[in-house]
Amino acid sequence: MNVPVIRPRRLRSSPAMRRLVSETRVHPSELVLPLFVREGATEPTPIGSMPGVMHHSIDSLKRAATNAAEAGVGGVMLFGVPLTRDATGSQASAPEGILNIATEALVAEVGDALVIQTDLCLDEFTDHGHCGVLDSRGAVDNDATLERYVDMALSQAHAGSAILGLSGMMDGQVDAVRAALDEEGFIDTAILAYSAKYASAFYGPFREAVDSQLQGDRRTYQLDPGNRREGMRESTLDMSEGADIVMVKPAMSYLDVLADVAAMSDIPVWAYQVSGEYAMIEAAAANGWIDRRRAIEESLVSIRRAGADAVLTYWATEAAGWLK
Ligand code: PBG
Repeated sequence: MNVPVIRPRRLRSSPAMRRLVSETRVHPSELVLPLFVREGATEPTPIGSMPGVMHHSIDSLKRAATNAAEAGVGGVMLFGVPLTRDATGSQASAPEGILNIATEALVAEVGDALVIQTDLCLDEFTDHGHCGVLDSRGAVDNDATLERYVDMALSQAHAGSAILGLSGMMDGQVDAVRAALDEEGFIDTAILAYSAKYASAFYGPFREAVDSQLQGDRRTYQLDPGNRREGMRESTLDMSEGADIVMVKPAMSYLDVLADVAAMSDIPVWAYQVSGEYAMIEAAAANGWIDRRRAIEESLVSIRRAGADAVLTYWATEAAGWLK
């Protein structure tokens, strides 16, 4: 009988052997937990489109962050859901705005154990739901939006946010925010640039989570899902503008873009496992169609394998508990 000489299966022969030769691991410190805080909430309430994820009050937010810290999670990314919205998203930069007071509360509570990060975008705060302010024709006005991002950046930095997550996809946003931070002396406030953020259907459940008012879509600022090279272009631009970390988003449908950016980047590259990725696995698991824990672990390891140094995931605390 003609037997094969090369036997890769040798290295798969036992759990101990597989563990020894494993190429990719996910460590709790590489996970970032996105959290939603709702103005006026006195207790946490479930978000229907994201089973297991809550709208937090300030108190329950602190508890969720403390649990994440105890599980060894690396950081949290905070989103605010305001009670009132207007055309310029004024609550986003108001010192007493929900995102800013929640940031202060978290920094005081767990700021030594976790890196407290904030979403820097206007969509949760505008009455039209766009990530920027609109011009007289109703189009998103890039440069007028940059002024609002600068206001937001300064109020978030003032509130103590350690990393600003610039997720609005305006041209020049990293440059504008970096210059303003430096001028005000916030030289240690880092910028996470959502560089390759695609106009994705997988944000669907998130829109409910932040009560998005959006009619229409974000295709004039977020990337076309078919454009791989453009993901690289946007990342290169953000690096040249001084981003400290770049992000690819969503994660699982964009692993090629992630691998491209990771291969050329000399700064950390993160990926965001978005609400739709979360909801799909939860829904399939709830129906008994998929092994929930294995699917979550496989999704995280695949995102790491493609090149992400850290992953934003709604499973951060739970997954950290398994991975320790
Ligand atoms: C914009 C923002 C979005 C998400 C994070 N930041 C929504 C969007 O671009 O429509 C989506 C996150 C998710 O789906 O989990 N501020």
